[in-house]
Amino acid sequence: MPDNPATSAIDASRTSYGDEDFSRFLRRAFLASSGYDDVDLDRPIIGIAVTTSSYNTCHRDMPALVDAVKRGVLEAGGLPLTFPTVSLGEILTSPTSMLYRNLMAMDTEEMIQALPMDAAVLLGGCDKTVPAQLMAAASSDKPVLLEVVGPMMTGQWRGERMGACTDCRRLWAGHRAGELDAAEIAEARGELVTTAGTCAVMGTASTMACMTETLGMMLPGGATPGAATGERLRHGTATGRRAVSMAREGAPLPREVLTRAAFDNAIKVLAALGGSTNALVHLLAVARRAGVELELADFDTIGAKVPLLVDCKPSGSQYLQDFHHSGGLPALLKVLEPELDTATRGIAGQPLSELLGDVPERQDWQTTILPLDRPLGPAGALAVVRGTLAPNGAVIKTSAASPRLLQHTGPALVLEADQDIAAVLDDPDLDVTPDHVLVLRSAGPRAAGMPEAGALPIPKKLARQGVRDMVRVSDARMSGTSYGTVVLHCDPEAAASGPLAVVRNGDLVRLDVENRRLDLLVEEDEVQRRLGEYSPPPLPERGWRRLYAETVLPASQGADLSFL
Ligand code: FES
Ligand code: MG
Repeated sequence: MPDNPATSAIDASRTSYGDEDFSRFLRRAFLASSGYDDVDLDRPIIGIAVTTSSYNTCHRDMPALVDAVKRGVLEAGGLPLTFPTVSLGEILTSPTSMLYRNLMAMDTEEMIQALPMDAAVLLGGCDKTVPAQLMAAASSDKPVLLEVVGPMMTGQWRGERMGACTDCRRLWAGHRAGELDAAEIAEARGELVTTAGTCAVMGTASTMACMTETLGMMLPGGATPGAATGERLRHGTATGRRAVSMAREGAPLPREVLTRAAFDNAIKVLAALGGSTNALVHLLAVARRAGVELELADFDTIGAKVPLLVDCKPSGSQYLQDFHHSGGLPALLKVLEPELDTATRGIAGQPLSELLGDVPERQDWQTTILPLDRPLGPAGALAVVRGTLAPNGAVIKTSAASPRLLQHTGPALVLEADQDIAAVLDDPDLDVTPDHVLVLRSAGPRAAGMPEAGALPIPKKLARQGVRDMVRVSDARMSGTSYGTVVLHCDPEAAASGPLAVVRNGDLVRLDVENRRLDLLVEEDEVQRRLGEYSPPPLPERGWRRLYAETVLPASQGADLSFL
C-alpha cells in the first residue's frame, strides 16, 4: 500500500460511480491546493483525530501533542492528515457528556472509514472522549492507535496540595457545611484546576487511559505522563512513528488487540486502581463492539481477586503525578504480572510478557503502587450487587465508600431526576435522618442519558450536623472523582419500568455488599401492583435525543445504541 501510487489510500476509496480515474484526479487536484504533491501522497497516510475545543479545557495543550504526533509520522515516512471530531469536555457539556459518547463514537468511526487513511491516531483525554474513541476503534477495520493528553498537575492552597476533582467535591462539601466561607472557596477555586490536562486523580479520564494502555490500544507508558511534560510529547512522537509501521503492515487491527484476555487484564487493573465506576459501562460497550462476550458480573468475579494497589484519590490519598513518578501503568502491570495473561499483544506488537521483561521489579520508592502482599485495600474495590431493587445489577465502588454503611437497611427518601433536588435537600425541615437511603431515579440512560448525578449531596441539615456519607441508590452514574456509599447504574432503570420506578418514601431498602445484594423490602405482589400503575416518561420529540432514547441499551450492556 505505501510507496505505491496505485494503491495509496488517497486513491483507494470509491466515490466516482463510473469514472474512478476522474475521482483520483480530483482528489489529487484538491490536495494539490493544500500543497501536497505525489511525493507526499504516495506515502502511508495517517489520519489524526483532533479533539481540541474551547469547551474542553482538559485538551487545551492538544495542539502541541498534534505537532508531536505529526513529527513522528513524518520521521517514519508517512503523511499526517488531521481531522476534527466531536469533542466532549466533561464540565461544559449538558445535560451530560454521556448522552454524546455514542455520537462521538459514531462520528469517529465513520470518519476513519470515510476519509482516506491507512491508519488512525485518535487523540483524546477527557472522560468520554477515550471511551468513544475505543468504541470507534473496535468497530474499525483499519489499524488504530489511541493517545491521550495526560493528567494535569496539582496545585496548592494554604499549604495543602489539591487537584481536580476529588478536592473540588471535598472543599465544596466543606463550604456546604459552613466550614469555608464564600471568599475562601473562591480563593481555593484558582488552585483546583491549575494546568491543561485531565483531572489530577484516578477519575474516569485517567482510569480509561489506564484501561486503554492495558488493553493494548496505546503504546506502553502512555497513560500517565502529565499534559505539560516533554514525556507526553515524546510519547506522542513515538505514537506517530508506530502509526506508520502499522499502516505499512496493515496490522494489528483493533479486533486482534481487543481480545477477551485483554479485557480480563483490564478488569484486574481496574480493581487494582480502584478506578472509576464509569469504566464498567465503557468497557462493556467496547467489548460488545469488539465481539467479546463480557458481562457485568465478570467485573466482580474477575476483579474480586485483585486488591486495591494504587494510592490515588478518590480511593487513596495521592495524585496521578505521583502514580506516574512511581512508574505509572507499566510498574503496576509488573506488580500484577502473576495475575495477568501476558500472552496478550497490543499495538506495540510484542506480547505483554516481553514488554514487562523491560520493567524493573517494584522498589520501595514507588510508594503510590503497593505490592500484592501489602495492598492499600482489600479485593473487591468495585462490587456488582443484585436484588429486587436491581434485578440486572448495580455497581458500588466499595473502596470509596464508608465501611460501616456497606451493610445497611434504612427508609427510602425518593427524589426524581427532574425535580428541584437542591430545594429538597437544602430544606431545613426535611424529614431525613442519617439512616435514610437517598433514592434518585429517572436518571438512567433512556431517561436522561445517564448523568453523573448518583453521588447526591448530603441534605444540608445533616451536613451541618457533621454527616458526611449516607447510602445513595440510583440509575445514574457518578463522577470517577466522587466518593461515598453510592450504588449506581441500577438496571433496569426506572424509565424502563425497573423496580426503582415504584419505590416510595419510607419503603425499606437493604444494601448488603458482602452478599452482593440490593433489595427493596416490599412484597413482590405490591411491587408488581405499583408497576402496573407506572407509566414511563414520554420520549424526546426529535433529533439525537429521540434516536438515543429509542435505541440505547441498558447500563449493564454498556449503554451503546443497539444498532451499533
Ligand atoms: Fe476533563 Fe476531568 S473534566 S478529565
Ligand atoms: Mg468525570
